[in-house]
Amino acid sequence: MAEHMGSWTPDKKNTDFADLVISATSASGNLYREGLGMIASENIVSPMVQKVVCSDLHGRYAEGLPYKRYYQGCGDFDTIEELGIKLAKQVFNAPFANIQSTSGTVSNIATLKALANPGDSITAVSTADGGHISHARMGAVGLRDLNLSTYPWNEERMEPDIDASIDLIREISPKIALFGQSVFLFPTPLKELADAAHEVGSTVVYDGAHVLGLIAGGCFQSPFEEGADVMTGSSHKTFPGPQGGFILSSSEDEKFQRRLNNAVFPGTCSSYHLHHVAGKVIALAEFMEYGQELSKNTVKNAQAFGAALAAEGFDVLAESRGYTASHQVLTRHGELDSGAGAKAAKLLEDAGIITNMNMLPGDTKAMTPSGLRLGVQELTRVGMGTDEMQDIASFYSRVLLKGEDPAYVKNDVREFKSNYQVIRYCFNEDEISGYPL
Ligand SMILES: Cc1ncc(COP(=O)(O)O)c(C=O)c1O
Repeated sequence: MAEHMGSWTPDKKNTDFADLVISATSASGNLYREGLGMIASENIVSPMVQKVVCSDLHGRYAEGLPYKRYYQGCGDFDTIEELGIKLAKQVFNAPFANIQSTSGTVSNIATLKALANPGDSITAVSTADGGHISHARMGAVGLRDLNLSTYPWNEERMEPDIDASIDLIREISPKIALFGQSVFLFPTPLKELADAAHEVGSTVVYDGAHVLGLIAGGCFQSPFEEGADVMTGSSHKTFPGPQGGFILSSSEDEKFQRRLNNAVFPGTCSSYHLHHVAGKVIALAEFMEYGQELSKNTVKNAQAFGAALAAEGFDVLAESRGYTASHQVLTRHGELDSGAGAKAAKLLEDAGIITNMNMLPGDTKAMTPSGLRLGVQELTRVGMGTDEMQDIASFYSRVLLKGEDPAYVKNDVREFKSNYQVIRYCFNEDEISGYPL
């Protein structure tokens, strides 16, 4: 057994391993209870979502679609999934929804399987420009053996270069024109690009993993109105549900819809994690009540945070466009490929602020990038507003610009965070005060 296994020593018993997992889980919870979770792909779930995610459903199976099952015992879950499909159609304003996929990546794998065959071509955003690994040969695109061409990029505007991308789409006539990124500050100029893609017979897929909640809350862009045929995404980033995925479509064509459903089951999933599906349905119901306000405040906070960091003296990207139109902010901490982003992320972690290093335009090495990608969606969820964004920018400044000891700043971060322990924008917000185990 490996030496690096936490506090393992030869005299440990199997129950000790279990205890180790429980105590590490609890410590991880504490990290976010006492610190500032600012990773743009993460969020926390409401008390009611926590309840169903920890329910008996976690061990059950329901292959197929509601009322068309291969197993007995699914009647109650049929009620849940049928309701979830209805709510997802409403929340995302789409005639089709599949709520089974177990992650954003699985949604993409299933969608590529449904809409393209090996050897077909696809256009997407390069990972160097913020595209996701599932859009790359190393990920789902390679798994389906598609020929990838990436859009020319406008670094100034942090979006595909419209004219050059239209030329690419016309030249390649891809089976799928895929849009959306992991580094996603501004809406994709989708209308123009989708028109070009449709002209050459492509299916337009928009990966809204990061911005799904902002889209549903009417605060980012409206991919279906702008020409997307399919939208994929995660259920746990700006959409505040448990980990999982969605596939949505503007198509009324039943054959097209069946292809998407079949690509999830049996195409990519057998069991599709019923406890998370139930959690997604509760999150959808909560979103119908609170989603617009949550999304509006999330974007407002990100813009305030970008401005506050710039006022402190940080190099915040996209100043000319108001820093951001999403939940994300990007900062540069040194020369390209210098690893300055990694160093900044570590110092912030020592101060109880959890972020991730990120490649910025011009960086070429994922492990030594110059930047940070920061997200404010989780802090918004616990009730923080624009004033708190100023406070947090000043913590960043103390650690990264003024050279204060991060351990000392950590005490102030803990004190600050102690006032934000209740999960907001959800039903029964006082039922479980704060973060789960
Ligand atoms: C654009 C994009 N698509 C897909 C994913 C994958 O989502 P998941 O982590 O739910 O598999 C991500 C993850 O961050 C992403 O940024």
